Amino acid sequence: MSGVESALVEIVGERNVLTDGDAMSGYLVDWMGRYSGIADAVVRPRTVGEVAAVVKVAAAAKIQICIQGGNTGLVGGSVPPATAEGRRRIVLSTARMTDLDAVDPIGRCVGAQAGATIAAIDAHAAVHGLMFPVDLASRDSATAGGVVATNAGGIRMIRHGNTRAAILGIEAVRANGDILRRWSPLVKDNVGYDIPGLLAGSEGTLAIITRVLFRLVSPPLATVVVVAALERVADALALIGRAREAGLAIEAAEFMTHEGVDLVAEHGSRRPVCAPAPYHLLLEVSGAGDTETAVVDLLDDAEGIVDAVLEPGPARALWKIREGHTEAIARATTTPVVKLDVSFPIRSLPHAIAELQDLPGHLDVACRPILFGHVGDGNIHVNLLDVPAEAADTVTEAVFGVVDRLDGSISAEHGIGRAKTAWTRLGRSPIDLATMRVVKDALDPQGLLNPGVLFG
Ligand code: FAD
Ligand code: MLT
Ligand code: ZN
Repeated sequence: MSGVESALVEIVGERNVLTDGDAMSGYLVDWMGRYSGIADAVVRPRTVGEVAAVVKVAAAAKIQICIQGGNTGLVGGSVPPATAEGRRRIVLSTARMTDLDAVDPIGRCVGAQAGATIAAIDAHAAVHGLMFPVDLASRDSATAGGVVATNAGGIRMIRHGNTRAAILGIEAVRANGDILRRWSPLVKDNVGYDIPGLLAGSEGTLAIITRVLFRLVSPPLATVVVVAALERVADALALIGRAREAGLAIEAAEFMTHEGVDLVAEHGSRRPVCAPAPYHLLLEVSGAGDTETAVVDLLDDAEGIVDAVLEPGPARALWKIREGHTEAIARATTTPVVKLDVSFPIRSLPHAIAELQDLPGHLDVACRPILFGHVGDGNIHVNLLDVPAEAADTVTEAVFGVVDRLDGSISAEHGIGRAKTAWTRLGRSPIDLATMRVVKDALDPQGLLNPGVLFG
């Protein structure tokens, strides 16, 4: 790469072109330790001008560019491919692009550079009594560019929608180095295609997001957090429905099974707070009146409740039981977890969850399912532990078979990345997929951006 390397050094400085194996290693393995890749260099630009200049150098030399934000993605899209395939490639990290613009408290929006973390954006908004509407347990590392590129869902989606719904404007660098800037705080602005909406969920395959103008929301009035131990999945759905009927706003509705709660107790930092029961629901609600009394009344009238604990929000200790799942699962096994993220029509959830829990009995391979997720959105994270490597596709297909039969989605919020490219046909028709390919080829004709992601 030497000619190219000196051009890159010229743009971002010597300290920000990493070529040494040790210096690059953290950028080449994903959060789960499941995907690792090969690159000739890691390049860390600071400004949109530097990103554009790096892309121009790479495009002229046909060098592939793998884009990385906080590297918390769960589908392998944040790291380069595992084989060189005769291609030169760089990882472009947004780690140094962390600027935040001043909050606009009247327009209720803020601009953030792609590498700013979700926690930093939220803390910045909080100074003005506002809140970033997207929240996820990876908030301290996940970045603005990453949540937009994956169209992340998270725990507040039930209240405020996914990341796409939070975007007012975007700045991005196209595969030829052109800077695209659709930047306006206008809430209503219908002039043609929704380019920011297109880049949301594009997983770095269409352009490099460099800055995002995000909508902010008011934080909820006083909230109450309940963890309820339940006999049946249907009891969880009924409780959510009754909370709505009582005029409470659902701020979050998260599902756990006793296996997951026990795993967090064993490998995480939080002991169970309720009596043992097959299922647990974490419900966070807000309301204008005496929310705590409204919740107590709700629990008194509800069916199937084995036990319940409630606390005024934010109730971080209660939340740890739910948010500790991902790390506890990662610690509980030495073999890679088969990590799936599926959704179902909400009315099918009791049936779907029963089928998923029954899988070990129907499969000829070892597998320990831990299910949890954003039940209010119909989104269940299916984590299959202790699966022999050679059986990973078999168990994945068994889960996707349930998804297919019940009209669900093979990717609710994490995206396709490298992990699920073989199965996109289960989520989109041949014409849909061909249309996506037309868009990809138009915006990235040399196929340089995030090779192997989304399209395989
Ligand atoms: P990365 O992991 O670095 O990248 C993810 C993808 O986005 C890659 O394809 C990458 O190439 C692309 N990308 C990153 N930055 C850019 C950019 N600037 N321009 C173009 N493409 C880019 N996800 C959810 O949806 N909901 C959750 O509730 C949730 N909870 C999580 C909890 C934990 C503990 C962990 C570890 C992960 C969780 N995730 C969740 C997954 C992950 O945090 C999200 O996918 C997040 O959006 C990734 O952001 P990131 O900055 O880490 O992106
Ligand atoms: C979550 O909701 O905690 C996540 O999406 C992470 C996971 O699936 O492990
Ligand atoms: Zn999730």
